[in-house]
Amino acid sequence: MADQTSRPDPVSANIVRAEGHVDGLDRAKNLGHGSRTVWFTGLSGSGKSTLAFAVEEALMRQSVAAYVLDGDNVRFGLNRDLGFAPEDRTENIRRIGEVCRLFQDAGMIVLTAFVSPYVADRDAVRDLHPRGSFIEVFVDTPLEVCEARDVKGLYAKARAGEIPEFTGISAPYEAPVDPEITVDTSNPLDECVAQVIAQLDL
Ligand code: ADX
Repeated sequence: MADQTSRPDPVSANIVRAEGHVDGLDRAKNLGHGSRTVWFTGLSGSGKSTLAFAVEEALMRQSVAAYVLDGDNVRFGLNRDLGFAPEDRTENIRRIGEVCRLFQDAGMIVLTAFVSPYVADRDAVRDLHPRGSFIEVFVDTPLEVCEARDVKGLYAKARAGEIPEFTGISAPYEAPVDPEITVDTSNPLDECVAQVIAQLDL
C-alpha cells in the first residue's frame, strides 16, 4: 500500500521503503473481501471486547479473515511498557493504529477494543487509513451501567482511590462526535453484531 499519509519521518535518516509484489486488489481477490478497521471505543466494561469477539466469530463463519486486537491483551505484550497517563494512552493508540494499518495492508478485517478516550488519538488513527475503510463504533454504555456491571472489579477500586486516572471516574472519556455506528448494548448481542456487520459493506 502506498503511504497515503503525512506521518513524521523516521528518526533514522537511512530508511528506504521496500515494495512487495502483491497489491491490495490481489489480496482482496484472494480473500474474497476488502479490508476494514472496525474501531470500538467506549468506557471500560461497556462491552467493546464482547462485541468485537462476537463480530469476529460471525465474520469467521462467513469465511471473512477477521482478528480482534483487545486493549488488555495488547498491554500484556506489544504495549506492556505503557501505563494510563494521557501520553501513554496516546502512544498506546498510536501503536495500535499502525498495527491496524498493517492488517489493512494484509487485506484483513481488524477489530479493535480499546477505551481510546481521546478524540484526537482516534482521529489520528482514522487519518492513517484509506477513506471509508475506518469504521468508528461508539459502544455507548452509560457510566452507571458499566459501574454497576463492574466485571473486573476496577470501578470499585477506582472509587476507593486505588486506581489513579481511571477512565470515567478520575480521567476523561471524550465521546465520538460523528461515529459511523453507535451501539446501544442494552439491545441483544446478536442485534448489535448484525448492526456492525451491516455497516462493513465488504
Ligand atoms: S486506553 O485508554 O489506553 O485505550 P486500554 O483499552 O488499552 O486503554 O486499556 C483499558 C483496560 O485496562 C480497561 O478495560 C481496564 O480493564 C484496564 N485499566 C486499568 N487501569 C485503567 C485506567 N486507569 N483507566 C482505564 N482502564 C484501565
